[in-house]
Amino acid sequence: MPARTARGRFLTFEGIDGCGKTTQLRLLARALRRRGLSVLVTREPGGTPLGERIRRLLLGRASAGMDPHAELLLMFAARAQHVRQVIRPALASGRVVLSDRFTDASLAYQGYGRGIDIALIRRLHRAAAGGLRPDLTFVIDIDPRTSVRRARRRNRRARRDEGRFEREAVEFYRRVRRGYRALAAREPRRGKLIPGETTPERIHSHVLAHASRLLARGAPRR
Ligand code: TYD
Repeated sequence: MPARTARGRFLTFEGIDGCGKTTQLRLLARALRRRGLSVLVTREPGGTPLGERIRRLLLGRASAGMDPHAELLLMFAARAQHVRQVIRPALASGRVVLSDRFTDASLAYQGYGRGIDIALIRRLHRAAAGGLRPDLTFVIDIDPRTSVRRARRRNRRARRDEGRFEREAVEFYRRVRRGYRALAAREPRRGKLIPGETTPERIHSHVLAHASRLLARGAPRR
């Protein structure tokens, strides 16, 4: 199918740890599949065998004290593979791709959170991810104190070795949240800031309304 007529759409979910984005992603995937759409669910860091290995490197306790630039470059190493091997092919065949995080996470966490130059991250995005831009990005907005509490509870239950980010101070998450808000404000057509301290059902109805509007529009050019 020529690229012009493919109806692939790329939607991403963002927010600080424990904001509830993964639940929202699953709810949206289910709703869209019920409408007969072919939906691909994926995540970052991860999404490919290489990416999942990099994810373990990034999120395990063994990575405590990782240099912020090392962290950033590993995120982009995983992303480059993800875009080429998974996201682009799915979009080219007309699928709806839902990703749990994408480059906005690098801008918010490594940029606003850790203080790496935003322009550098944007350059890396162009070089490593071909500048791929989501059609719609949901930023689930929540107070860091709520989110850290939720995340701790969840990690304890799952006994997962992914606690490194979640041990960061609330102050770090405040910066990340400010980053996400700034990113959403900068691109209001793409970035939708959704209040996250309400019921999952209510959040889902906002998300579904935006997604439906996007899907009703004509096919995007890439
Ligand atoms: P995530 O998969 O959302 O964690 P979980 O599913 O356990 O909630 O994200 C993992 C962590 O990686 C999260 O703390 C955010 C961080 N991250 C970055 O710092 N930069 C990035 O570019 C990405 C994709 C994630």
